[in-house]
Amino acid sequence: LPPPPPAPPSFTGAKLVDDEDHPWMPLQSGDIRGPCPGLNTLASHGYLPRNGVASPSDMIKAVQEGFNMETQAARVAAYSAHLLEGNLVTDLLSIGGKTSLTGPDPPAPATVAGISNHGSFEGDASMTRIDAFFGDHTVFNQPLFDQFVDFSNRFGNGFYNYTVGGELRFHRIQQSIETNPQFSIRGFRHLTAYGEAAFVANIFVDGRKTGADAHHLDMDSALSFFRDMRFPQGFFRPSSPTAGEGADIIFAAHPTQPGSNNGAVNSFVVDTSMGGLTDPCTFYVQFVSTTIPALYPNPTGVLRRNLIINLGFLYDALSPPNCPQLFPYGQN
Ligand code: HEM
Ligand code: MG
Repeated sequence: LPPPPPAPPSFTGAKLVDDEDHPWMPLQSGDIRGPCPGLNTLASHGYLPRNGVASPSDMIKAVQEGFNMETQAARVAAYSAHLLEGNLVTDLLSIGGKTSLTGPDPPAPATVAGISNHGSFEGDASMTRIDAFFGDHTVFNQPLFDQFVDFSNRFGNGFYNYTVGGELRFHRIQQSIETNPQFSIRGFRHLTAYGEAAFVANIFVDGRKTGADAHHLDMDSALSFFRDMRFPQGFFRPSSPTAGEGADIIFAAHPTQPGSNNGAVNSFVVDTSMGGLTDPCTFYVQFVSTTIPALYPNPTGVLRRNLIINLGFLYDALSPPNCPQLFPYGQN
């Protein structure tokens, strides 16, 4: 049986996480990395298996221990990623591309393609990664990082904060609308795009910083995480559990709606049918009744049992307000 979600650690204050037990190591042949600078860093320090393949429980433990990620947010991220792109029978998920290390695949149309797979969890208008339409959407992109620095200079006196996040998040969406005919930011992606912009100010900032220095990320540290998948030397994790706090501020700077381009640039059409940042219930309902059944139309045996269990873990963590739990595969 997939184990229940790991509880938070008993101590949730700041502490040295760039420690002797977790040395950074360069990639070895076969190690998998992907679009998430947080998970990449945890794997390169050994908080996650260094090969980049882990169970959802491993991920939750790692993001809590290494980054003090708040436990409900950690569960939402891990179980949604696992349901979308993990192997539900072996309980293994790749933090990058598809790999045989997750075990034998269930029948198509299930993809089990890892979190790099475009259009499920990964999506467009990332801050430091290009849209899949233009090439490899999983790797660090220097021109986009230069833009990240430029925005931090212009709006944050050289630091990334919620104000910078508000400007950069909006700008990346406009850039994609203007250049990517296949641009899409619907449902889950609309939610994660804002959440991730907040993570940068909440989780990548050393936990010893307080007052005006809190939620205030210097560019050397940003480069260390985004490009090198490495804690800044002597890094302390945040001083209390944190995740998407401030996403509302980033959103409010320039509110956007979910939607897509129509096959041409500058053809953006609003589409709220999959939910989004301001409508988590619709996201949940669509996820459970459309997205996952499209991958698993007719599961049986252990696969069906584990779908039911993981969907339950996701609902418990997300607890979408005024939004009853759904059971597309029954309850046991
Ligand atoms: C992006 C998954 C935890 C920071 C992403 C993306 C995925 C992902 C699939 C790609 C989205 C995209 O930009 O297209 C996960 C999962 C997590 C997790 C499954 C936990 C189980 C974390 C943590 C941090 C973090 C703990 C922070 C320390 C980020 C940031 C981005 C991102 C900043 C955006 C990168 C960019 O826009 O260039 N994550 N993540 N994530 N993640 Fe994570
Ligand atoms: Mg992306």
